[in-house]
Amino acid sequence: MKHIFKKGTDANAPVLLLLHGTGGTERDLLPLADRISPASSVLSVRGNVVENGMQRYFRRLAEGVFDIEDLLFRTKELNDFLDTAAQEHGFDRNNLVAIGYSNGANIAGSLLFHYKGTLRGAILHHPMVPIRGVELPDLTGVPCFIGAGSNDPICAPQETEDLQRLLSEAGAPVTVHWEQYGHQLTSSEVAAAAAWYNETF
Ligand code: MLT
Repeated sequence: MKHIFKKGTDANAPVLLLLHGTGGTERDLLPLADRISPASSVLSVRGNVVENGMQRYFRRLAEGVFDIEDLLFRTKELNDFLDTAAQEHGFDRNNLVAIGYSNGANIAGSLLFHYKGTLRGAILHHPMVPIRGVELPDLTGVPCFIGAGSNDPICAPQETEDLQRLLSEAGAPVTVHWEQYGHQLTSSEVAAAAAWYNETF
């Protein structure tokens, strides 16, 4: 997969896996990595699916309606890519913390839902429930931060509450941070994610 790898100054710090929103690129979230853990190595991956010229991580049938077959295929593709990227760039595959926004948060959620041990933790900005009716792996010790907007027209508050419940039931410690805005990623939400990260890792 097309990506950027930047080696950090602290080899023991979690490696940040950056996953952009629909229409974004692997450059979009680089400033977030600097704010959240400047000493970390960074692996920022571009989504392989193109929808009307916009890059994404998996296909959708309509706004908020996911192509589940493609979601499963792309989640495996990304998980396999993380294995090979760890070898290629020489980082610890077991020390990845995802930072995803919107579609990128959804594929990060799908990694958590399908592959035990794939992430050490996750910051999910405006995620939805990626898939329903599946049994999640044990997520004990995999802390997750969810940033949500109480007026988000794409991720209704119920989605956030459902995702929080599903992750918690699988054993993950989940922190939800609410903003009174819509789907946009605000500076105060990033500050809350950075504070959470620094307390957690
Ligand atoms: C998705 O398709 O993953 C969500 O609807 C969010 C987005 O617009 O990317």
